[in-house]
Amino acid sequence: MKRKDLDWENIGFSYHKTEKRYVANYREGKWDEGLLTEDANVVINECAGILQYCQEIFEGLKVYTTCDGSIVAFRPDQNAKRMISSAQGLEMPPFPEERFLDALDQVVRANAAWVPPYGSGATLYIRPYMFASSSVIGVKPAEEYQFRMFCTPVGPYFKGGVRPLVLCVGDYDRAAPHGTGHLKAGLNYAMSIHAGAQAHRNGYDENMFLDAATRTYVEETGGANFLFVTKDQEIVIPKSASILPSITRQSLIQVARDYLDLKVTERPVTLSELSDFAECGLCGTAAVISPVGKVVDHGKEIIFSENKNGMGPVIQKLYDTLTGMQQGNLKAPEGWIRHIM
Ligand code: PLP
Ligand code: COI
Repeated sequence: MKRKDLDWENIGFSYHKTEKRYVANYREGKWDEGLLTEDANVVINECAGILQYCQEIFEGLKVYTTCDGSIVAFRPDQNAKRMISSAQGLEMPPFPEERFLDALDQVVRANAAWVPPYGSGATLYIRPYMFASSSVIGVKPAEEYQFRMFCTPVGPYFKGGVRPLVLCVGDYDRAAPHGTGHLKAGLNYAMSIHAGAQAHRNGYDENMFLDAATRTYVEETGGANFLFVTKDQEIVIPKSASILPSITRQSLIQVARDYLDLKVTERPVTLSELSDFAECGLCGTAAVISPVGKVVDHGKEIIFSENKNGMGPVIQKLYDTLTGMQQGNLKAPEGWIRHIM
């Protein structure tokens, strides 16, 4: 297998059309066998449920070349499980976990030439998604669905390498209490686009969303969870029913407790207490752990002093341990690494 000739260090977080993607259709109450196709286009009826009422869910995970040249995925079973709960939340038929994992193996093997080399800083990003493909005009679940999984090589989510990000607190909410914020549904991302674009227009890297009910608690950004570190090197994770349960965050909690011997507390975090923290990070598949240097709340600056030049010491340790496991330099807990080839 000859690897594609890309400038791996500088590919950025963008879409590259790769050779093959997986497609399965749900019709008459069951999933068909599924297959790989070269066709990257989706053809659906004008009245398809996805187009009219946004009945869609997705996932995001990464595949790595390890130090010994293997190709592995990080905790894909967790993405399969989260996609099942997202499906249940949007009245869609769950795609079985073992079929999800089989589709992953097929897509990665068929596009092996696109897996970035070890040490390049790039990875193969996998995007599984499912949408209502048959027509609906009354507001109700569709009868037919399509599950697809494609891959694209990606570099870091934030431009400019590891640097302290600057966030703002905007005036829009991402998710309602008792709503869909905990599901990985495209509709939540649609809700975040205006706030995110406003933040970018105003020169910020991201928008920090607060809880919609009281606007006093920290929730997340449009694409990552928060993690804070106290001056005593304790980790504090915002707890809320309307944020996406991040697999990266869950993994970091385990890394912190079991490998770094750090105390971790999950609790609601108020905006007003942020100035007490020494470090702040954004965590997610795309973001990995990206350091936040400053949050600006309507002119008031909250500075995370330990992140002023990049990652603070605790975030750096978390980052090194997690990425060490993903790249095969450190042994990961049982079941975290799926060997694909
Ligand atoms: N929060 C949001 C809104 C996201 O889109 C993501 C990305 O998937 C995350 C958090 C991080 O989740 P994970 O670590 O599972 O990628
Ligand atoms: C991911 O981290 O996989 C996501 O889905 C977030 C998105 C902003 C790229």
